[in-house]
Amino acid sequence: MHVLVLHGPNLNLLGEREPEIYGQMTLDEIDRRIRKRAKKLGIKVRIVQSNHEGWLVDVLHQNRRWLDGLVINPAAFTYSSYALRDAIAAVAKPAIEVHLSDIHNREPWRAHSIIEPVCTAQISGLGVDSYLHALERLASQESVPELRRKPAG
Ligand code: DQA
Repeated sequence: MHVLVLHGPNLNLLGEREPEIYGQMTLDEIDRRIRKRAKKLGIKVRIVQSNHEGWLVDVLHQNRRWLDGLVINPAAFTYSSYALRDAIAAVAKPAIEVHLSDIHNREPWRAHSIIEPVCTAQISGLGVDSYLHALERLASQESVPELRRKPAG
Protein backbone atom coordinates (compact mmCIF):
# COMPACT_ATOMS: atom_id res chain seq x y z
CA MET A 1 0.00 0.00 0.00
CA HIS A 2 1.20 3.50 -0.88
CA VAL A 3 0.28 6.46 1.34
CA LEU A 4 0.95 10.13 0.71
CA VAL A 5 1.30 12.21 3.87
CA LEU A 6 0.78 15.95 3.42
CA HIS A 7 1.57 18.56 6.06
CA GLY A 8 0.13 22.04 5.56
CA PRO A 9 1.34 25.54 6.44
CA ASN A 10 3.38 26.40 9.54
CA LEU A 11 3.90 22.75 10.47
CA ASN A 12 7.57 23.15 9.47
CA LEU A 13 7.90 25.23 12.66
CA LEU A 14 6.75 22.45 14.99
CA GLY A 15 8.95 22.25 18.06
CA GLU A 16 9.21 26.03 18.34
CA ARG A 17 5.65 26.96 17.29
CA GLU A 18 3.26 27.34 20.26
CA PRO A 19 4.68 24.26 22.03
CA GLU A 20 1.97 24.50 24.72
CA ILE A 21 -0.54 23.62 21.95
CA TYR A 22 1.45 21.55 19.46
CA GLY A 23 4.08 19.96 21.70
CA GLN A 24 7.87 19.88 21.53
CA MET A 25 8.25 17.43 18.68
CA THR A 26 9.76 18.75 15.46
CA LEU A 27 8.37 17.87 12.06
CA ASP A 28 11.47 15.74 11.35
CA GLU A 29 10.76 13.70 14.47
CA ILE A 30 7.09 13.31 13.49
CA ASP A 31 8.18 12.17 10.02
CA ARG A 32 10.56 9.62 11.56
CA ARG A 33 7.68 8.23 13.64
CA ILE A 34 5.45 8.08 10.56
CA ARG A 35 8.11 6.23 8.53
CA LYS A 36 8.72 3.76 11.37
CA ARG A 37 5.00 2.94 11.76
CA ALA A 38 4.54 2.75 7.98
CA LYS A 39 7.39 0.26 7.72
CA LYS A 40 5.82 -1.89 10.44
CA LEU A 41 2.50 -1.85 8.54
CA GLY A 42 4.11 -2.59 5.18
CA ILE A 43 3.12 0.84 3.84
CA LYS A 44 5.32 2.86 1.49
CA VAL A 45 5.08 6.57 2.36
CA ARG A 46 5.87 9.83 0.65
CA ILE A 47 5.83 12.84 2.97
CA VAL A 48 5.61 16.47 1.85
CA GLN A 49 5.21 19.70 3.83
CA SER A 50 4.36 22.98 2.17
CA ASN A 51 3.22 26.43 3.15
CA HIS A 52 1.75 26.90 -0.32
CA GLU A 53 -1.76 25.79 -1.18
CA GLY A 54 -1.11 25.32 -4.91
CA TRP A 55 1.99 23.26 -4.22
CA LEU A 56 -0.03 20.85 -2.05
CA VAL A 57 -2.62 20.57 -4.85
CA ASP A 58 0.17 19.89 -7.38
CA VAL A 59 1.76 17.21 -5.18
CA LEU A 60 -1.62 15.53 -4.79
CA HIS A 61 -2.16 15.56 -8.57
CA GLN A 62 1.35 14.26 -9.27
CA ASN A 63 0.87 11.36 -6.86
CA ARG A 64 -2.73 10.52 -7.75
CA ARG A 65 -1.94 7.28 -9.56
CA TRP A 66 0.71 6.23 -7.04
CA LEU A 67 -1.24 6.64 -3.82
CA ASP A 68 -3.73 4.21 -2.33
CA GLY A 69 -4.47 6.49 0.61
CA LEU A 70 -3.87 10.00 1.84
CA VAL A 71 -3.12 11.34 5.32
CA ILE A 72 -3.40 15.12 5.41
CA ASN A 73 -2.92 17.70 8.10
CA PRO A 74 -4.25 20.72 6.20
CA ALA A 75 -3.38 23.03 9.14
CA ALA A 76 -4.92 26.48 8.50
CA PHE A 77 -6.03 25.38 5.00
CA THR A 78 -8.62 23.30 6.88
CA TYR A 79 -10.69 26.48 7.04
CA SER A 80 -9.98 28.11 3.71
CA SER A 81 -8.93 25.78 0.93
CA TYR A 82 -11.72 24.74 -1.39
CA ALA A 83 -8.93 24.00 -3.89
CA LEU A 84 -7.47 21.35 -1.58
CA ARG A 85 -10.91 19.98 -0.83
CA ASP A 86 -11.68 19.66 -4.55
CA ALA A 87 -8.29 18.07 -5.23
CA ILE A 88 -8.91 15.41 -2.55
CA ALA A 89 -12.35 14.73 -4.04
CA ALA A 90 -10.87 14.57 -7.56
CA VAL A 91 -8.20 12.04 -6.58
CA ALA A 92 -10.98 9.93 -5.04
CA LYS A 93 -8.85 7.75 -2.76
CA PRO A 94 -9.40 7.13 0.96
CA ALA A 95 -8.22 10.21 2.81
CA ILE A 96 -7.85 10.86 6.53
CA GLU A 97 -7.68 14.38 7.90
CA VAL A 98 -5.45 14.68 10.97
CA HIS A 99 -4.66 17.38 13.50
CA LEU A 100 -2.16 17.35 16.33
CA SER A 101 -4.33 19.51 18.57
CA ASP A 102 -8.00 18.96 19.37
CA ILE A 103 -9.66 21.36 16.94
CA HIS A 104 -13.03 20.72 18.62
CA ASN A 105 -11.83 22.17 21.91
CA ARG A 106 -10.11 25.36 20.82
CA GLU A 107 -11.46 28.55 19.26
CA PRO A 108 -14.91 27.73 17.82
CA TRP A 109 -13.86 28.58 14.23
CA ARG A 110 -11.29 25.77 14.29
CA ALA A 111 -13.95 23.10 14.74
CA HIS A 112 -15.49 23.50 11.29
CA SER A 113 -13.36 21.82 8.64
CA ILE A 114 -14.20 22.25 4.97
CA ILE A 115 -11.87 19.32 4.21
CA GLU A 116 -13.62 16.78 6.45
CA PRO A 117 -16.59 16.04 4.11
CA VAL A 118 -14.26 14.61 1.43
CA CYS A 119 -12.35 12.46 3.91
CA THR A 120 -13.19 9.02 5.27
CA ALA A 121 -12.29 10.13 8.79
CA GLN A 122 -10.93 12.96 10.88
CA ILE A 123 -8.53 12.28 13.75
CA SER A 124 -7.75 15.23 16.01
CA GLY A 125 -6.06 15.92 19.31
CA LEU A 126 -3.73 12.94 19.65
CA GLY A 127 -0.45 14.65 18.76
CA VAL A 128 1.77 12.50 16.57
CA ASP A 129 -0.58 9.58 17.27
CA SER A 130 -3.19 11.28 15.05
CA TYR A 131 -0.93 10.46 12.08
CA LEU A 132 -0.08 6.97 13.34
CA HIS A 133 -3.73 6.06 13.91
CA ALA A 134 -4.52 7.32 10.42
CA LEU A 135 -1.90 4.97 8.95
CA GLU A 136 -3.32 2.08 10.98
CA ARG A 137 -6.82 2.89 9.81
CA LEU A 138 -5.83 3.07 6.13
CA ALA A 139 -3.97 -0.23 6.42
CA SER A 140 -6.94 -1.94 8.07
CA GLN A 141 -9.51 -0.50 5.63
CA GLU A 142 -7.58 -1.49 2.54
CA SER A 143 -9.54 -4.71 2.15
CA VAL A 144 -12.98 -3.22 2.96
CA PRO A 145 -14.11 -1.36 -0.21
CA GLU A 146 -17.31 0.14 1.25
CA LEU A 147 -15.28 1.94 3.93
CA ARG A 148 -12.97 3.51 1.40
CA ARG A 149 -14.92 6.65 0.60
CA LYS A 150 -17.65 8.59 2.17
CA PRO A 151 -19.85 10.64 -0.19
CA ALA A 152 -18.79 14.28 -0.16
CA GLY A 153 -21.17 16.54 1.79
C1 DQA B 1 -3.58 22.01 13.26
C2 DQA B 1 -4.81 22.73 13.86
C3 DQA B 1 -5.20 23.92 13.00
O1 DQA B 1 -6.31 24.59 13.60
C4 DQA B 1 -4.06 24.91 12.88
O2 DQA B 1 -4.41 25.93 11.97
C5 DQA B 1 -2.76 24.27 12.54
C6 DQA B 1 -2.42 22.97 13.09
C7 DQA B 1 -3.12 20.86 14.18
O3 DQA B 1 -2.40 19.99 13.70
O4 DQA B 1 -3.46 20.82 15.36
O5 DQA B 1 -1.92 24.89 11.88
O6 DQA B 1 -3.93 21.46 12.01
